[in-house]
Amino acid sequence: MELKGKKILLGVTGGIAAYKSAELLRLLQKQGAEVRVVMTPAATRFVTPLTFASLSKCPVYTQDGAPEARPYQHIDFPRWADLYLVVPCTANTLGKMANGLADDPVSLCFMSCAGEKWIAPAMNTVMFLSPAVQANLKRIREFPKVHVLESPSGMLACGEEGPGRCAEPASIVETLLSAPENDKPILGSSKSVLITAGRTEEAIDPVRYISNRSSGKTALALALAFKNAGFAVTVVSGPMEAPRVSGIEWISVKSALEMHHEVLSRASQFDVLVHAAAVADYRPKTVSDQKIKDSRSHLTLELEPNPNILRDSVAKKHPGQIIVGFALETADAERHAKEKWQKSGADLLVLNTPVAKDSGFGFDQVSYSLISKEEPVSPPQMGSKESLAQKVVSFVLTSLGGHSCQ
Ligand SMILES: Cc1cc2nc3c(=O)[nH]c(=O)nc-3n(C[C@H](O)[C@H](O)[C@H](O)COP(=O)(O)O)c2cc1C
Repeated sequence: MELKGKKILLGVTGGIAAYKSAELLRLLQKQGAEVRVVMTPAATRFVTPLTFASLSKCPVYTQDGAPEARPYQHIDFPRWADLYLVVPCTANTLGKMANGLADDPVSLCFMSCAGEKWIAPAMNTVMFLSPAVQANLKRIREFPKVHVLESPSGMLACGEEGPGRCAEPASIVETLLSAPENDKPILGSSKSVLITAGRTEEAIDPVRYISNRSSGKTALALALAFKNAGFAVTVVSGPMEAPRVSGIEWISVKSALEMHHEVLSRASQFDVLVHAAAVADYRPKTVSDQKIKDSRSHLTLELEPNPNILRDSVAKKHPGQIIVGFALETADAERHAKEKWQKSGADLLVLNTPVAKDSGFGFDQVSYSLISKEEPVSPPQMGSKESLAQKVVSFVLTSLGGHSCQ
């Protein structure tokens, strides 16, 4: 979306990452946005309202600001805004917003904001992974017009390491810039997308299988981005850690053969196919019906190739259908991906190059290039899985003749 001229309300809550909101405010202003700030009482203990008032050149809406002077701030601020960002979003404020409580300026504005809302949860890893926070995240993801930014893994202010960090201001701006414009109808009429997700498991015997490390996070980001762009979304998913979201049809499979069957039998009904699953190239030729005994001698597994779901769906492609493939290459990535794109016949190939530390499988950041007729190989870029998903949605919208999100 275009940020120039956008009116953005920035909600700041009482987390250690509150200082990042000041940088975010500056970056949004650099993009030409007008920013106003609303703070919880706890947030004012981390950064003073004076800091935000000076940067935004506008009074900050706080709990102890004299309500007599501006009695309807809780309605006027969100109504003024085109977008409401809550950065950082504490576990406490997330819990309130997800459950309809509104006893401070930030949660109150959330409830009275009819527009698009983006939140950046930020907290200690144990808090982030707690059942309460995970349940609230699942709940709030299902609210209309609410987007939850990733809370990347890394070193936290408390010295521990794990997920729960506040998304970086630059990455938030990047994600907003590549998101669809919220006040424009994105699609003239309803379109449908089928996305493959997760990994496959290829059975060796009743208890063992061959698989890979895919977490399903990219596919989840794609599913949400397409849903937010107005598509009817179906996901054919192998096992994955990423949470499932309501409002999306989920079809569960285990093996590559099952995924092949579910995708190929449905493919013709969809306007767009996105092959994001990490499908095993090979499967054991025979599957033992009993657990293979440990004989302490060498064991050779004979593997046979799985069908290529991307190539087979391209062979059955109908006019106007858009097909997106994913490739993961660790060596001579560009040459291999170009070959794969040419061989596959996909409209767009996303080349995943998990070369950087903390990127790729299981991480929130991904390093990627896009290959299409329009763009032979874009320079590799590092970004959030959400921003990659937005780029794919933009490509698809442009190809379908809708407006581009870029
Ligand atoms: C030094 C310090 C750092 C904190 N950092 C966080 C944090 O990063 N995330 C979080 O959810 N809570 C954090 N808390 C706890 C919140 O400040 C507390 O839950 C508060 O009630 C949140 O209020 P609010 O959601 O209204 O801003 C921190 C507390 C302290 C004292």
